[in-house]
Amino acid sequence: MSNYHIKNLEEYFHVYKKSIQEPEVFWEEIAEEHFTWREKWTNVLSWDFSKPEIKWFENAKLNITENCIDRHLPTRGDKTAIIFEPNSPDEDALHISYNELHERVCKFANVLKLNGVAKGDRVIIYLPMIPELAVSVLACARIGAVHSVVFAGFSSTALSTRINDCEAKMVITSDGSYRGKKTIDLKGIVDEALDESPGVETVLVAKRINSEITMKSGRDIWLEPLLENASSECEIEIMDAEDPLFILYTSGSTGKPKGMLHTTAGYMVFTAYTFKNVFQYQDDDVYWCTADIGWITGHSYIVYGPLCNGATTLMFEGVPSYPDYGRFWQIVEEHKVNQFYTAPTAIRALAKENVDFVNSYDLSSLKVLGSVGEPINEEAWCWYNEHVGKKKSPIVDTWWQTETGGILISPIPHVTPTKPTFATLPLPGIEPALMDENGEEINGNQVDGKLCVKKPWPSIARTIWGDHQRYKETYFSAYENKYFTGDGALRDETGYYRITGRVDDVIIVSGHNMGTAPIEDAINEHPMVAESAIVGFPHDVKGNALYGFVTLKEVDESSETDNLRKQINQLITEQIGPIAKLDKIQFVNGLPKTRSGKIMRRILRKIATNDTGNLGDISTLLNPEVVQDIMDNSLQ
Ligand code: WTA
Repeated sequence: MSNYHIKNLEEYFHVYKKSIQEPEVFWEEIAEEHFTWREKWTNVLSWDFSKPEIKWFENAKLNITENCIDRHLPTRGDKTAIIFEPNSPDEDALHISYNELHERVCKFANVLKLNGVAKGDRVIIYLPMIPELAVSVLACARIGAVHSVVFAGFSSTALSTRINDCEAKMVITSDGSYRGKKTIDLKGIVDEALDESPGVETVLVAKRINSEITMKSGRDIWLEPLLENASSECEIEIMDAEDPLFILYTSGSTGKPKGMLHTTAGYMVFTAYTFKNVFQYQDDDVYWCTADIGWITGHSYIVYGPLCNGATTLMFEGVPSYPDYGRFWQIVEEHKVNQFYTAPTAIRALAKENVDFVNSYDLSSLKVLGSVGEPINEEAWCWYNEHVGKKKSPIVDTWWQTETGGILISPIPHVTPTKPTFATLPLPGIEPALMDENGEEINGNQVDGKLCVKKPWPSIARTIWGDHQRYKETYFSAYENKYFTGDGALRDETGYYRITGRVDDVIIVSGHNMGTAPIEDAINEHPMVAESAIVGFPHDVKGNALYGFVTLKEVDESSETDNLRKQINQLITEQIGPIAKLDKIQFVNGLPKTRSGKIMRRILRKIATNDTGNLGDISTLLNPEVVQDIMDNSLQ
């Protein structure tokens, strides 16, 4: 029986039990048998959630790219590592073998070194889904630089906040990007961001759309000639198990994004292990995750997890609707994709279109379907199961977070019986707990509460870059000696988990985490706005959409509110990005507040969702009179 690859339910229960009873023995065996180390660890795990401090495989030495690339060369050098499928179906796909990936990563790593990047330096990557994105991530890891990928849909302000927070000295970008029919001027966005980020010394620019751009002399350099001249051999930098691998920003309940820091060895072991099991990857399979590498899903399950297993991983540059809504299925047919991993929002959007878009393609290669990013509703689950999986490919509803690094709760296909809307059972090494209002753990089944995890797993984020205190407060202070996820969950009569959604000020829109505070900060910058509050309301494609309640400084009957709404969304687009735009904006005379001045979002949430039957006791509010007025004018 192998701990590494679970093949039936009996094995799962056996392996799970072992992983909880003897976590150190369990992870040590996996680490020893399935990875390449330059030096072994002296201790498997030490942890203290009160500090919090977590160390896995202490003092081990390794490089994650040796594990993702070099060690496969003798056996799989000619195997395709990455399939690049361009935005337009008229452009040919590119197959990059492990040998070629090795050469590309080495060349890129040498370019980084020649341009002054050293171990420990932070490098911001702001690229579309082109091969250079995966290659630059791996090149950073090869030389021990800490990559921080910023999703290329973020605005210049959001980009510069992240550059400044991690004090990056280099930005890697491209002249522009393709997105369906549109092109986006990425370099222009970088230029604007760098006006606010003077610390950046070098910008490496990949050519993708051949647009006319300005190159600032002494700062901006075209990547291609540098790569051509670079050596194709680059020794790995030997890293400590706990050396930083990357920073990835995620929204939180204050305006500033949280730079989640992931380290090397534990992240590698856990993402590789979970990839193998959750997707049941077999050697000749073609695996496709539709996420962008700018999110954690792309880091862990396009790049590191699959490559560590010597898999073929597909990267898609485009969007599901271009040139038409059959694009995903055309790609599945063309590349005979075996495992397909996407988000509920994409499934819902595709389910609204004619089912002929699915049925015109041969999807018989599919073996496993995955879902991630938000709760998947039953209707979407059933559509996915019936039309895409033809009821023969199990759906793995994978629950996890940027902070967790890898999947924590998920079915294992053909092992765990699935149940629509349930992420089902914890993976080995994960001990969930549900907590009640009084901070006590709720035992037994058929219960719901706030979801925590009792012990560290190898890929838990180690800190928030530059703000350990915030890390402690956000994740380890709500419940003693437990990691708090920010999600609510229920456990059914068989012990299966269903994630019910966020219980904090984060709203998930089209699978993207949106902190309400940064959006409110953006709105409040408008000179006419006094105050604002954002809540979510259900949306049939996005899952949730954003509803803003805004008070103005001067209320004037003639105020051009439609124009103001446009200006507010424009501000949000500039400060954060178009993904954070509000669907509804209601101008109100006052926001309901507690006597201590806190905005009562609970009431606003009920108004936004048209659930005003029971608003609870509003008499204790500072200004109960505003509530009726907001209800009377709500935008339903
Ligand atoms: C939500 C994405 C229900 C959850 C990997 C979590 C989910 C947040 C699921 C993290 C799922 C993710 N079912 N909810 N299968 N997967 N979530 O950091 O609220 O972008 O806390 O990581 O997404 O989002 P993040």
